[in-house]
Amino acid sequence: MANLSVNFCDVKFENPTVLASGILGVTASNLRNVIRNGAGGVTTKSIWLKEHVGHKKPTMFGTKEWFLNAVGLSDAGIEKAKDETFPEYLKDKPAPIIANIVESSMEGFAELTEKIDACNPDIIELNLGCPNVEDEHGKPFSCVAADAEKVTKMCRERTKKPLIIKLSPNVSDIAEVAKACASSGADGFCAINTLYGMAIDITVRKPILTNKSGGLSGPGIKPSAVKAVYDIYKATRLPIVATGGITSGEDAIEIMMAGGRLVGMGTMVYYRGVEGFGEVVKEMDEWCDKNGVKNIEDIIGAAHN
Ligand SMILES: Cc1cc2nc3c(=O)[nH]c(=O)nc-3n(C[C@H](O)[C@H](O)[C@H](O)COP(=O)(O)O)c2cc1C
Repeated sequence: MANLSVNFCDVKFENPTVLASGILGVTASNLRNVIRNGAGGVTTKSIWLKEHVGHKKPTMFGTKEWFLNAVGLSDAGIEKAKDETFPEYLKDKPAPIIANIVESSMEGFAELTEKIDACNPDIIELNLGCPNVEDEHGKPFSCVAADAEKVTKMCRERTKKPLIIKLSPNVSDIAEVAKACASSGADGFCAINTLYGMAIDITVRKPILTNKSGGLSGPGIKPSAVKAVYDIYKATRLPIVATGGITSGEDAIEIMMAGGRLVGMGTMVYYRGVEGFGEVVKEMDEWCDKNGVKNIEDIIGAAHN
């Protein structure tokens, strides 16, 4: 058996797989269930300062190759996370927890960083890249390097915990945005959030989702994710939660070779169920055995050599 444990910003994960934000991550018991099924860590759904109502249904539509969602970042707000999710998850903590937060203003992000720090997660992730709430909240901050740099700096001043930035792939140069965040104190990244997408029902001649457009995820986006992770790693060498279209052990190995240190999986759950985490870990282990890899950390960024 290979050693699959990974150190990410001085936090130890038993294996590199992590639940991506927004999928199953609502209650502490959901999060614990993901760990029971083999994940090395979990990310919470995006948490806001106040309760946030999402979009009207239908908010999701999937095929074998890809998945569209416009859930709209619905959430009960930080107070509920502080009183319920974190205390319940942290007693006998089964594995590291990444707290993903979102706000529509930079001041809101900074205030929320301080509040989430007090909840004591292992890592704080700023969701600067959700594409499907633009009508309400404007362009995501990670679509403009100067904005990403500014909000990272404001949040950096409010926490000493590892601070990672979740980036949007909907930019022409993701490495430039990553470098801007690194210059203002980011410890690492999560990439990628969803791409822009739309599906039209040709019988009624209308978009399928009520929100019209949504975020594209699932197997079809893997090459975009691999390229984004490759570019961010090359530009910064900082640790990355490599996310986007990963559904198998071989996918996970591939994106780690691009530069991923952890591997986020969200839509995988729709295809393989929550048991998919343990299965992917087993597949990674089998690949390592077959290929003489003793420590999974040895393959991180291997495609750059
Ligand atoms: C239903 C759904 C809800 C999501 N909600 C969030 C969210 O609340 N915050 C966030 O940062 N990303 C969210 N995402 C994006 C995922 O965390 C991930 O970055 C993206 O789906 C690509 O990974 P995947 O192909 O493994 O799903 C969501 C994705 C899906 C499919």
